[in-house]
Amino acid sequence: MSEKKESRDWYKEAVFYQIWVRSFCDGNGDGIGDLYGVYDKLEYVKSLGVDAIWFNPLYPSPNADYGYDISDYCDIHPDYGDLDQFKKVLNKAHELGMKVIMDLVINHTSDEHKWFKESRKGGDDNPYKDYYIWRDEPNNWDSFFEGKAWEFDSLRGQYYLHLFAKKQPDLNMDNPKVREEVKNILRFWLSMGVDGFREDVINFISKKEGLPNGIGFLPVIGSIHNFKDGPHIHEYLAEFRKVCDEYGAVQIGEGPMTTVNTALKYLSGDTKSMDMMFSFDHMTADCLFTEYLHRPFKLIRLKNALSKWQYKLAGKAWNSLYLENHDHPRIISRYGSEKYHRESGTALATAYMFLKGTPFIYQGQEIGMTNIKLSSIDQYVDVSTKNNYIRYHVKDPIEARLHRIHISSRDSARTPMQWDASENAGFTTGKPWFFVNPNYKDINVAAEEERPDGILNYYRACVKLRASSKTLLRGSYKEYEPGNPLIYMYERRLNKTSYIVICSFSGEAIPFILPKGFAGHSAKLMLTNYPRKRKQGEIGILPKKGLRLSPYEAMVIKMKRV
Ligand code: GLC
Ligand code: CA
Repeated sequence: MSEKKESRDWYKEAVFYQIWVRSFCDGNGDGIGDLYGVYDKLEYVKSLGVDAIWFNPLYPSPNADYGYDISDYCDIHPDYGDLDQFKKVLNKAHELGMKVIMDLVINHTSDEHKWFKESRKGGDDNPYKDYYIWRDEPNNWDSFFEGKAWEFDSLRGQYYLHLFAKKQPDLNMDNPKVREEVKNILRFWLSMGVDGFREDVINFISKKEGLPNGIGFLPVIGSIHNFKDGPHIHEYLAEFRKVCDEYGAVQIGEGPMTTVNTALKYLSGDTKSMDMMFSFDHMTADCLFTEYLHRPFKLIRLKNALSKWQYKLAGKAWNSLYLENHDHPRIISRYGSEKYHRESGTALATAYMFLKGTPFIYQGQEIGMTNIKLSSIDQYVDVSTKNNYIRYHVKDPIEARLHRIHISSRDSARTPMQWDASENAGFTTGKPWFFVNPNYKDINVAAEEERPDGILNYYRACVKLRASSKTLLRGSYKEYEPGNPLIYMYERRLNKTSYIVICSFSGEAIPFILPKGFAGHSAKLMLTNYPRKRKQGEIGILPKKGLRLSPYEAMVIKMKRV
């Protein structure tokens, strides 16, 4: 135990790989990804150079929100295997030198969880009576996924709160018994040997007393101040932190709409309860609040968001770094270019993997998977996608409405992993539970393995370079040319050693005059995504007349600074 405790800091030098198991690899041919498939692919995961795996929820769930509606916290969904198979995966991951963290979803359960089934019965001596948030009259809050945030339950004769889908009733965290249940869940997985948790919408678990109405005319966001960073959040999280401290478990909080200043309360000082937070600022460079409210991508917005977190957390807290996960459409289709698929995929990798913090790679991101475009809304399965479609822009022509879905749906991140060019992309020998992206013949792991300059091998090179350098792991961050709308340039520095990252986000060749202090200096090219144009490892003088950058050209150079 104490050994684990001392080593919690491992996460700062780690790279994580995120597995959304249902679409990762099907090991038993029923068309659904599972822990048998994961077991077989652990060597592949390890081959990326990563140090840890985050599993999206693996628990029994009716899948109203694909695992985020949990009906039993201490078991494995029969679609994915069982506890024995999970232990096999856990042990093998550990043997391969990879840690494993689980998803902890405690803002809500499934309505099919035993606690909710009991709670519905009401009655004064019912121990589950106050496990959820029941009211005789609803307030005016909206849910994120399905209309109003309240649903009437005819058995109990009251309304229950659900910030997400109807089948996701919110737990009443003010009830100490509920918090004890959470601690038991933590202990269950930690004593089995898992290394930590990613904590779902953790900044929403404490609601304002009396549940006051929100600002009615603002859908969803008008009520958020009533449950985001609520009045008792830090007390409750301190209780959970104590349990995690006993095991040295890493805690990563998902913080929708969190600001950098509120994040610091979770990440530092007396109220520190998390090791990292997943922030969202940098995910709105092409949208407002959510991908469904699209606006054209602007690099400046992306750079501002990344730099803000880099600067504000410096010396105080640790960043988590990501561009994709199971909640967002694919990054090449958003911030990159499907036309310059390889170039933009590698440039995006360069842009975020060398920031200060812990990078996360989402399954399929490392081979440049892109958004799927299904031809009818009926083919989509995600509850929020469907809700957006029926709720907003309903008077627009069908094509326009579908276009919004194509660019925003979470389902694009949830299509089966593309392993090879065989039928169903090698994901399953059966009938895949969801559509495989038709581009799998070209975009797949086997094909990428054969491409030394491809996206997959570039990710491996990024992971390796980062791990090899104290400067990249621990050095400071400084952005250059923040007003440049096409180029992202930053420096990581430790003492006299600097790494300079330069990424073009332009689909055209463009000139770039290096800022003062760089031109004329000697530097070594550590990484390039144009290996036929530039020579990795070469030492040269940074040109005074500037660099000519090819479309989505990216590079990492190393130099001495005085
Ligand atoms: C988080 C999860 C998302 C889920 C939601 C409700 O944002 O990442 O997938 O739908 O919480 O649990
Ligand atoms: Ca299966």
